[in-house]
Amino acid sequence: TGSNGGAETQAVTAGTAPGFPPFEMKEDGELVGFDVDLLEAVIGQTDYTLSGWEEFEFDSLIPALTNNNIDVIAAGMTINDDRDQAIDFTDPYYTSNQAVVVRSDGEFSPESLSNLADRQIGAQSGTTGESVVDDELVGSEITESQYSAYGNYVLAIEDLENGNTDAVMIDVPVAETFAANRPVEVAFVYETDEAFGFGLRSNADDLTSSLNSGLSTVQDDGTYEELTAEWFAE
Ligand code: ARG
Repeated sequence: TGSNGGAETQAVTAGTAPGFPPFEMKEDGELVGFDVDLLEAVIGQTDYTLSGWEEFEFDSLIPALTNNNIDVIAAGMTINDDRDQAIDFTDPYYTSNQAVVVRSDGEFSPESLSNLADRQIGAQSGTTGESVVDDELVGSEITESQYSAYGNYVLAIEDLENGNTDAVMIDVPVAETFAANRPVEVAFVYETDEAFGFGLRSNADDLTSSLNSGLSTVQDDGTYEELTAEWFAE
């Protein structure tokens, strides 16, 4: 029993989908990244404790949350209307656009979506990058079979490197991280003005407001800035 004498447990389990550097990735078997450090710092400002992290494919995170397998999603997840109908989000903690990533051998240098015509395009299942491909390319510039859906973005980038796909649609900071470490580069940015939030069950109002105030504390006390300096090379 906690010092507040409540019957409810204050321990929360976080869920994420690694393979999305620098937000969440595996290093020597360890889960690390900006989301990991940020959520831990935010929870540290609240009456809640973190019982641990669970890993899922990205498109299994919302079901895991609504089925009570986890209590909070920290996965570079974009706040959008579709998701907002199923879950709640904290205030935004990062903003991003989509990037089109290609091999850095200079053979294919698209400058706009129309330059992707008849190419093989990859994205991670269930992401906003996939939605851009679905909405803007499939059925016009490319056929359905010219879209390759991957369980995670590491597999998509590997397929790009080995020539099985020609371009990958992925969040800008993640594209830049892959480009810094692998033979790929950002061809162009497609503006989507996305904001990332931590995801919560829609009945978890106390946790949501606690995380929001924890987030604003770490944004004010310099912790947020330290973490961005650590994880984002700029
Ligand atoms: N921001 C994009 C979205 O919300 C991609 C997130 C992918 N996250 C991950 N951990 N794999 O759809």
